[in-house]
Amino acid sequence: MATVRPPDQSLVRKDEDDKERARKRNNEIISSLGKEEGWIEEYMYEYQGFWYPSVTIVEGVMWVQQNFKPRHEDILLVTLPKSGTTWFKPLMFAVMNRTHFDLSTHPLLTTSPHDLVPFLELYLHHKIPFPNPDTFYPPQLFQTHIPFTSLSQYVMESQCRIVYICRNPKDVFVSTFYFLEKSRDKKLTPLSLEKAFELFCKGLSLYGPFWDHVLGYWKASLEVPDRVLFLKYEDMKRDSSFHLKRLAEFMGYPFSVEEEKQGVAHDILELCSFENLRNLKVNKTGNIITTNNNQVENHRFFRKGEVGDWKRHLTAEMEDGLNKLIEQKLAGSGLAFRDSSEA
Ligand code: A3P
Repeated sequence: MATVRPPDQSLVRKDEDDKERARKRNNEIISSLGKEEGWIEEYMYEYQGFWYPSVTIVEGVMWVQQNFKPRHEDILLVTLPKSGTTWFKPLMFAVMNRTHFDLSTHPLLTTSPHDLVPFLELYLHHKIPFPNPDTFYPPQLFQTHIPFTSLSQYVMESQCRIVYICRNPKDVFVSTFYFLEKSRDKKLTPLSLEKAFELFCKGLSLYGPFWDHVLGYWKASLEVPDRVLFLKYEDMKRDSSFHLKRLAEFMGYPFSVEEEKQGVAHDILELCSFENLRNLKVNKTGNIITTNNNQVENHRFFRKGEVGDWKRHLTAEMEDGLNKLIEQKLAGSGLAFRDSSEA
């Protein structure tokens, strides 16, 4: 009978010692981070030039940097919060897995997009601490908000493809404000729209500054277009069919002529439409776990799903100020956000 060899205790101890050393090093870095007034908690924290809403998220980012080793065939969806992650997760999941699932029994009908596509620095980090990436079936779709310059060597060397979704900053701001309003620590005075706007314009937003985050991926998409695809939420809204095909091609899952004839892309767009997903029981009633076992109701990820909702919330002065700021920050990059394209 074959005998099972017990694990080498000295290797187990070494592994534990390495983890302990990493924990201590991370804690030292965290205790020395710059802080500013926060949106959800009392403070937000600056790590590697970007602002994070809690220490838990900084820990998660460090965890990703030190442990996440994607494979060549894996795909990373990157967004700034409130840029349409809840839309692109199901779209990309459905594209990648379209041969495995029938539309009538599709997992998206009964599972939140956030439970199907792991959010690296938060959800994955907390739900399955230090997972062994070899236990996932390739190829895998992951999601993160980590800025380009903070992606680890592992990600850069893996050659995995990166899809970056950006959205008009005025809509990102408004969407963030209404989402975080409900998550803010009840012990703190509520954050007014004006104060939140001031923070946003100073670059003190979730994973902000907004302009540095988008520019990082914009430049990467110009330098390595076969590795980084840069897509706008507004473009997907305007011409969904064209951009879904472009997305599928980039991901390595192009629609065949036969699939085109059968309307597969159209079916995926229908499945993932705002109206369809928002009205599913799982998204109307369920919760997802976020930091420290806090729960967020799934329905909060489906607010309006419109282009240009900012017009109902920002004054003309705010609009003008943010337009000028973004124009100045993006000057010379070739990237612009034009409200005229907002149908
Ligand atoms: P609004 O608050 O403007 O409505 P994220 O998922 O990155 O947090 O972004 C959330 C934003 O995407 C919200 O914007 C939400 O309504 C919108 N959204 C969610 N699902 C969507 C879908 N299927 N189609 C279009 N927009 C969607």
